[in-house]
Amino acid sequence: MNVLVTGGAGFMGSAVVRQLEAEGHEVSVLDALTYAGSWAHLDGTGAARILGDVCDAAAVRAALSGVDTVVHMAAETHVERSLHDAGPFIRTNVEGTRVLLEACRAGHGHPLIQMIYVSTDEVFGSVAVGGFREEDTHVPGNPYAVTKSSAEALVRVWARCFGLRARIVRCVNNYGPRQHPEKAVSGWIQRAVQGEPLLVHGAGEAVRDWLHVEDFARAMGRVLRFEGPRSVFHLAAQCHRTNLEMVQTIARLAGGADIQFVADRTGQDARYALDDAGTRADLHWAPEVQLEQGLGELLAELR
Ligand SMILES: NC(=O)c1ccc[n+]([C@@H]2O[C@H](COP(=O)([O-])OP(=O)(O)OC[C@H]3O[C@@H](n4cnc5c(N)ncnc54)[C@H](O)[C@@H]3O)[C@@H](O)[C@H]2O)c1
Repeated sequence: MNVLVTGGAGFMGSAVVRQLEAEGHEVSVLDALTYAGSWAHLDGTGAARILGDVCDAAAVRAALSGVDTVVHMAAETHVERSLHDAGPFIRTNVEGTRVLLEACRAGHGHPLIQMIYVSTDEVFGSVAVGGFREEDTHVPGNPYAVTKSSAEALVRVWARCFGLRARIVRCVNNYGPRQHPEKAVSGWIQRAVQGEPLLVHGAGEAVRDWLHVEDFARAMGRVLRFEGPRSVFHLAAQCHRTNLEMVQTIARLAGGADIQFVADRTGQDARYALDDAGTRADLHWAPEVQLEQGLGELLAELR
């Protein structure tokens, strides 16, 4: 396939680019190189690099030339930033998705394009036990999650009204190489290596499910090849940990680190979880990287 990855210079996008190249796809990347993106993340790949904004219709149309599949990952992604200013999130995540959908729509010269939209478990909000199923109602609990849910709604409507071939992939928290240190795990790892205290929001009771980014990328390779009727995919690790458990694990693997509790995040969701049984069965996929192995490798890389 000839694949365009938007946001391919970011953390997860750059892992997807590597995976798709390894599977023999022709890959190009459209990325605006915000603070979160860097061409250096694509070092060693042969992906064509297109500097451009997903909100720029002309740039998007040009990037789609010859493309048959778009993996749409370009986004503003840090929840904490969305609490301070939701504007860039609404612009890139919602308007950028609309611009891309319009460009992919049949009648614009690219009738065969399929769009794979990468979304998040955060669209559902919190769940005390079990995990959300694909058709469950969204109750997003922060501005970032609202924009991801809104973009999903646009994707579904473009499929319904304009015949766009679209799939939605919802994913739990990823960790791994090339993640911006503003994100939890990469920040904790960096602090542990530098001998600084590991900061935990509130009492550290928030529960997240942790998937290694290379497992995510392997699953994405399968989503691209998938030929069945499923249109929504849930990618989870079923590796739920409280934030306190995570920092304790990192501290132990690092040979010791102080833990410091800081004010809880506004609107903190208690627990995110996805039911991924259907997706695992359809894709014949399961995560391969164990949490401690993945964290240990990150620590070793920074040392
Ligand atoms: N990180 C996670 O744990 C996680 C979990 C579930 C879903 N997701 C989703 O996966 C996708 C990738 O997440 P990530 O953590 O790799 O993000 P990231 O912040 O590391 O990378 C985002 C990329 O998008 C680019 N970008 C931002 N605005 C752009 C614009 N207007 N035009 C073009 N490019 C732009 C950035 O330069 C960067 O390269 C996002 O859509 C995110 O919502 C992430």
